[in-house]
Amino acid sequence: MSSLLLLASAETPDLSMFDPVSPSAKSIRDLSILVMIITGLIFLVVEAVLCYCLLRFRRSTPGGNEPPQIYGSQPIEIAWSVAPALIVFMLVLITTRTLWEVNTDLPKPRADDRALFVTVVGHQWWWEYIYESHDGRKLGFTTSNELHIPVGDDTARPVYLTLKSSDVCHSFWVPRLAGKTDLIPGRTNHTWFQTARPGLYLGQCAEYCGCQHANMLIRVVAEPIEDFERWLDHQQQPAVVEADLHVAQGAFLSQSCINCHRVRGTTAAGTFGPDLTHLMSRQTLASGMIPNTPENLRAWLVNPQNIKAGCLMPAFGLNKHDLDQIVDYLLVLR
Ligand code: CUA
Repeated sequence: MSSLLLLASAETPDLSMFDPVSPSAKSIRDLSILVMIITGLIFLVVEAVLCYCLLRFRRSTPGGNEPPQIYGSQPIEIAWSVAPALIVFMLVLITTRTLWEVNTDLPKPRADDRALFVTVVGHQWWWEYIYESHDGRKLGFTTSNELHIPVGDDTARPVYLTLKSSDVCHSFWVPRLAGKTDLIPGRTNHTWFQTARPGLYLGQCAEYCGCQHANMLIRVVAEPIEDFERWLDHQQQPAVVEADLHVAQGAFLSQSCINCHRVRGTTAAGTFGPDLTHLMSRQTLASGMIPNTPENLRAWLVNPQNIKAGCLMPAFGLNKHDLDQIVDYLLVLR
């Protein structure tokens, strides 16, 4: 719990949509502020007229009679119909312009466009990232929960996401990078962003998708191109096995873990759960819920339901020996 609080307190500011670092997030922030100013002014005018009337006409007429009642005034009725219509029309125009800026068709990957293409698959309750191509180079590896992207400080490096769902509706939302985009079963959506600022950007599934919706967290690591390329090269490698861990690896491969999880370079080829090939290169477990430490990894294996109640990984009732071996093995999957 304390580590959870630590994660939250250190990183909460990153969720603010008022501190955008990507063009589409900036457009959304600007539109939000403009709408707040316009609606705020309307609020002030209405409240001012209301307060004036309350004060100015607060006394009842002598004898308790009603004051003279006035019905119908064409100029006033025209004014309060035309003015709101004009305001709404203006808001429609501005919103349409923002939608235009935010939406983009998915371009075809080209060798010269410096773009990163990733397919995002939403699962109950984690994110699968399939790296399709970068700089026109085909990639084709899978990772989960932590999305790494390059920053483009010298030139634009857009990130194009293709969004799909494997079960129910989810929504991909990293407020500082882009607006929400839904992941809908049977439908493919797209979004994009780019940033020149390295850092960790947090996000959250923004469409109720079941009991652990609130813990379907997103982490986007934006890093300089050299670091990103290094990460990319490393992620494409299959898992390495150290000679003295063959027994531990055997313990892992003999369990039902491999029905759901993949470790590239081994017989573990499941695709239902997160790819574990480079598990220890991730900062967190359980889709951003807890730091990825040996203790947390062990606690997760003992009973995932204690940490993320309702998640689709059951407790396997491993004996201590198997547990030790599997943890030892997973810890080398860097
Ligand atoms: Cu996925 Cu809410």
